[in-house]
Amino acid sequence: MTRFETIVSLRPYLATLRPEKTIGFVPTMGALHEGHIKLIETARQENDIVISSIFVNPVQFNNPDDLARYPRTLEEDSQQLEAAGCDLVFAPSVAEMYSEPPAIRLNFGGLETVLEGAFRPGHFNGVGIVVSKLFNIVQPTRAYFGQKDLQQVAVIRRLIRDLNFPVELIRCPTVREADGLAMSSRNRNLTSTEREQAPTLFKALTLAHDLLMEGQGTVQAKVAVTSLFAANPHFRLEYVEVVNADTLQQASEVLAPGQTAICLAAHLGNVRLIDNLVF
Ligand code: PAF
Repeated sequence: MTRFETIVSLRPYLATLRPEKTIGFVPTMGALHEGHIKLIETARQENDIVISSIFVNPVQFNNPDDLARYPRTLEEDSQQLEAAGCDLVFAPSVAEMYSEPPAIRLNFGGLETVLEGAFRPGHFNGVGIVVSKLFNIVQPTRAYFGQKDLQQVAVIRRLIRDLNFPVELIRCPTVREADGLAMSSRNRNLTSTEREQAPTLFKALTLAHDLLMEGQGTVQAKVAVTSLFAANPHFRLEYVEVVNADTLQQASEVLAPGQTAICLAAHLGNVRLIDNLVF
């Protein structure tokens, strides 16, 4: 696997591959886990060339402590990518990506005022900017994102549509640990006690799903989830919502198959975890 750190070296190399070869792209912030590896493997099956990026994007962090705490494990990540069949990794420095702070601002309207957007102001502006830059640098055929970040997928779908990026967006299922905990780079910051508690997120989603399937209303399902977290002193629930899986707007009832999502975010100690179920 070849590692590139500069745009000026990566661009001409990729230009020699296009248009004969299809390019599958998996953007990441590193600290890779099985979920990322699954994205690489899916990209491997569907494309001639697979490229991943590893870049902890400061512009999408609204909390400086969160940015400072974000794990940086480039050497381990590179080994995992290579083992999964990735051909190239792009690992630029902050100065390479942002010679100066970006002047543009992206506003995703109603998509960014709910769920994560409501609690992390400016986050999706930062995601939109870095993903646009990466799409322009890599010019992939297909780009792969995990469903765990459902709102990010919706924002990038909109970005692709609004700015006419010639990229096919592929949403891949959330990969879970055996006990249901969604794989996340943040899981490595959990203490062993917190790790034992962490599957509560998936239990809460399953509970809400089962109640909705039994015909209970969305309000009852949300109350049940809120009570579950209220009874567990390890957690502080930030939100639980039942929404349309594409628009992320609140749903007052179960929608057509594949269209309903239950989304939640909770603090477990110093770690903020999110998860969702789409059904
Ligand atoms: O999901 C992530 O890891 C990041 O938000 C992304 C898409 C790589 C942009 O920095």
